[in-house]
Amino acid sequence: MIRAALALAAARAAAPLDAETTKRLDHLQDLLHQAHTTPLPTWTVSHEDADSVEWTPRAKGSAKVVEAGVLRGISVVRKRVICTDPIATLALTHKRSKRPLPKMEKHCAEAVAELFFMEHLRGRPGIPVLRGAWYTPQGLEYVVDDAGPPLLMLGEHKKVAREMARKRPLRLAKALLECFRSFSEEGGYFLDDLTWRQFSVREEPGRPPVITIVDGPKALDAPVRSYLGASGHVLPLPNSTACALNSQCPATRKHHSCIDNGVGTGRAGLVDAAALAAWNATTACYWRPGSRAQGVPERAAAPEAEGWCASFDASGVRAKHCVPWSSKTHVYDVGSRGWALGFLEDHARNAVSRRIVVGLRRKMVGKAVAARPSFSEALAWLAARASGIKEGLL
Ligand SMILES: Nc1ncnc2c1ncn2[C@@H]1O[C@H](COP(=O)(O)OP(=O)(O)O)[C@@H](O)[C@H]1O
Ligand SMILES: [Mg+2]
Repeated sequence: MIRAALALAAARAAAPLDAETTKRLDHLQDLLHQAHTTPLPTWTVSHEDADSVEWTPRAKGSAKVVEAGVLRGISVVRKRVICTDPIATLALTHKRSKRPLPKMEKHCAEAVAELFFMEHLRGRPGIPVLRGAWYTPQGLEYVVDDAGPPLLMLGEHKKVAREMARKRPLRLAKALLECFRSFSEEGGYFLDDLTWRQFSVREEPGRPPVITIVDGPKALDAPVRSYLGASGHVLPLPNSTACALNSQCPATRKHHSCIDNGVGTGRAGLVDAAALAAWNATTACYWRPGSRAQGVPERAAAPEAEGWCASFDASGVRAKHCVPWSSKTHVYDVGSRGWALGFLEDHARNAVSRRIVVGLRRKMVGKAVAARPSFSEALAWLAARASGIKEGLL
């Protein structure tokens, strides 16, 4: 019985597109190719509306210029990327090539993928709300709802993030799990550029906090792959290559796996002295399980993110084959990273809430993929454990 339930969990793939979503994505595709210029019916902000807003700089990301403003009483954000020939860029993303796209084209393809991502998962918790998109003579521009400050917040706001974690750890845990469930388990996306700056937190009076993934993740087994093209913002499809050693299995990008050369390696001996010195709770790569006094960071990446050759068959995993990356890899991430559930464990004021977070982390960082809960299962477990707890301690 348990075995059957686990097999089911491992086999769960991203949800297929329904007819309404396909219609929206086809419309977006036509619009981006300039087959017509009618905005999507789901959009409420036009280029002229956006031009009437007084924008103030919010962030200069690696690729986008991000500004904040208020439109019809709603806090919104405008994102812009330079893209001198979007139609030619789209054509490039649909060509198979061994060489990566040039920088501008890559950034443009990322923004295009972000539009498909937001339209695909519209309405799900933790997904940014797209209000409108258009071309300008310089490139691509779009407006989304303001999802709030970055998860751990910056400067003087750091205290606010700690206060939230101190007082509402279980509500934040729920918001984090819901966001990851939306994009990775239901959507089939994978965030290999994994840092807390890619997540925003927003809390409105009388409402539970919402954590949103603000930067577009890559398509893994997402049903939108065909819209993005083989050279678009996508990861190779999980193909479970035959192997004899971990070093024959691919590692995820350094941001995610913390491994430099993109090739798998044994897990021993990787924590070097410099990394130890630079360690803190918010760095991407290390975490401190359990004992605070011990102070020794462990690897935060799931074994299959570092490159893992399976020794024996298990559900979703074949012996002598590389263990594929999946939403279960992100389950491990949410459990392990010092800025995710680790942050909540460190700051939770109430002992009962803290123990629930510790229990959740322990389940989520199971080495075997099938031993980890799905995000849905983690949410169900959290709901059951939290049901007896007083409102004020959630
Ligand atoms: N919807 C949003 N709401 C609030 N802040 C946002 C939003 N989108 C982006 N930001 C802020 O702008 C930064 C850069 O945006 P992002 O999409 O991550 O661009 P890049 O691809 O250049 O990293 C984010 O780290 C975040 O702080
Ligand atoms: Mg970013």
